[in-house]
Amino acid sequence: MTRAIYPGSFDPITNGHMDIIERSSKMVDELIIGVLINHSKSPLFTIEERTDMIRKVTEHLGNVSVKAFDGLLIDFAKNCGASVIVRGLRAVTDFEYELQMAQTNRVLAPNVDTVFLTTNLKYSYLSSSIVKEIAGFGGDISEFVSPYIEKKVKEKVKGKNSDEQDRTINK
Ligand code: COA
Repeated sequence: MTRAIYPGSFDPITNGHMDIIERSSKMVDELIIGVLINHSKSPLFTIEERTDMIRKVTEHLGNVSVKAFDGLLIDFAKNCGASVIVRGLRAVTDFEYELQMAQTNRVLAPNVDTVFLTTNLKYSYLSSSIVKEIAGFGGDISEFVSPYIEKKVKEKVKGKNSDEQDRTINK
């Protein structure tokens, strides 16, 4: 049985991520989406919100589950009993970092292999930050995320903008 991990921050999950999840879930028996509690980024969504949102948009995929993790990816993979880490490559610029990460993880755990899928060309420029930025300025993100995620992002951005307005008025 092949169990794989697809790790990321998913703040929020985009159609580019979904493309990788849908394709890789067909290649393995079980796919666990590992959602990083990332201390180096300031996420828009809490870890609970991110995991709930991913569960919702992947509920049609029977062999996909979602777990939050902290610390080293390779420890998470070992704890889950996974032998494969799935990563998406969007452009050449991703390659150097991904290679370094894959090589290091292989030294740390020789039994865990990293498998790369090329991201659908349609999403090769996409990132969660771009989605948040467009939404922050009131732009249309419907091409980049599912309708459910679009609604969640809009609600969150609206709440954040009105908090900022309140702070400016109260200064
Ligand atoms: N489609 C669209 N966007 C994509 C994408 C795809 N297929 N793949 C990646 N992206 C986006 C992500 O949304 C992210 O956007 P953001 O920077 O605006 O948030 C960006 O590209 C970078 O993605 P990624 O490299 O997957 O970063 P991440 O923060 O989502 O995840 C981890 C990085 C979790 C894999 C990595 O930090 C990690 O393993 N951390 C644990 C600590 C560890 O083990 N470190 C040692 C490694 S050797």
